[in-house]
Amino acid sequence: MSTILRRLPPSEATGLRTGARHSLAELYRPADLVVLGLGVTIGAGIFSIAGQQAATTAGPGVILSFMIAGIACLLACLCYAELSSTMPTSGSAYTFTYVIFGEVWAWIIGWALILELQFAAAVVARAWGLIAVGAITNLGVRVPNPDLVADVLVLVILVLLTAIVALGARVGLRALWIMVSAKLLAIGAVIVVGLFHLDAANFGELYVPSKTLTTSPATVLEVLVGESSAFGWFGIFSAASAIAFAYIGFDVVATAAEETVNAPRAVPKGMIRSLVIATVIYIAVALVMVGMVSYTKISVEAPLTSAFRAAGVDWMAHVIDVGALLGLTTVILVLIVGQTRVLFSMARDGLIPRGLAAVSRRYHTPSRVTLVIGLVAIVLAEFVPVLTLQELVVIGALFAFAFVAAGVIVMRRRMPHLERGFRVPLSPLVPALSLLATLWLMVNLRVLTWAYFVLWMAFGLLVYLVYGRRHSLLARPARPVDPVRGRHRR
Ligand code: ALA
Repeated sequence: MSTILRRLPPSEATGLRTGARHSLAELYRPADLVVLGLGVTIGAGIFSIAGQQAATTAGPGVILSFMIAGIACLLACLCYAELSSTMPTSGSAYTFTYVIFGEVWAWIIGWALILELQFAAAVVARAWGLIAVGAITNLGVRVPNPDLVADVLVLVILVLLTAIVALGARVGLRALWIMVSAKLLAIGAVIVVGLFHLDAANFGELYVPSKTLTTSPATVLEVLVGESSAFGWFGIFSAASAIAFAYIGFDVVATAAEETVNAPRAVPKGMIRSLVIATVIYIAVALVMVGMVSYTKISVEAPLTSAFRAAGVDWMAHVIDVGALLGLTTVILVLIVGQTRVLFSMARDGLIPRGLAAVSRRYHTPSRVTLVIGLVAIVLAEFVPVLTLQELVVIGALFAFAFVAAGVIVMRRRMPHLERGFRVPLSPLVPALSLLATLWLMVNLRVLTWAYFVLWMAFGLLVYLVYGRRHSLLARPARPVDPVRGRHRR
């Protein structure tokens, strides 16, 4: 087999080769995984992007966009669940691809996951900064230089959360439980109070007729049909792709597999449960948002707050501010955790410098790689207009979803006897539908997003050819492993 297509044996995927399977402590129980999932899922997607898409692209049809993206993500989640129950490792889609399709594909997926998670942390941190400034203003305090204050706040939150992740999963987990509970309470208030202020007239236009735009086609699909439009079905589908951002996070739960007690059964449950809960919450919030006020009155800067203000419930602004700040904090926290686990796995396999797989003896976390990720997130959030690049997060995630769906089908044929804690029902139909739904969301992304994505992947391939291919652990002759310390004996 060609070197770049060499495959990781399944037994080694879980770390038997390096013994590193046991270098991260088992910490999560099923309920923790649900909290982890809700922690990373519910954030900027529902607090900001949903309203922006309603106002500019889908109108009240944003409810349908949430359903479409939700169905696509639930299908992908089932596929993730099967593969993580078979290979419960912190590399998630990267490791699955290594076993199923070979090294160069694994690298490509790892590189896409880096784009997804690293950019997501920066995007959500930037959104957090803006919400924080808005929250201070809502308290009646005049903020003299909002941009500068937002910059400082973004720096503070990223330094703080990176430190929490570096200092130990246990500290982070406790903080996570508290913050996720508080954000769920705030979202519960949004739904309940919103329900009392619904106006049926606002649902009259659930489907806003499409408006042909004179601008050049923005999404790949529009290029294919040669026309650009807002609203209508095009708008609903294009919004569904942007809204997939809101669902990102169930895939991050898979990166916690190596630290989960009884992972083959617990990870699929945690992943599916958190995604179902998030989907119900999203549809409910979208429903009250577009039901309280005409979509034409939703502000792009503070969508939920503007909807409540228009309905005469000004005090909800503070509840939304608290919920959003806590919500986005947990998203960033878990994204950093997920990103550390993926890079840790790639370093453990030798595809990036192995020093990055070092686990701190004191804190029992991959602290070195955590600091690198924190630093990159700060640079991106402070110096790159990440809020205009949020679709890059989506395309990175969807690319991995496609490989995971195809992976389930291939793995069932090639390794039918491997133990699976969870099996996708009706395979290969469901994985095939997942693949189609993912590709559909991908063609509804902007051409510019695709262009940046291709550049990013080309750069990644170069890095692999120059470094990863030569330093891969599979390029070295196998050496015995010290069973206690998990290191190679010299
Ligand atoms: N799903 C996460 C959010 O919406 C990334 O913020």
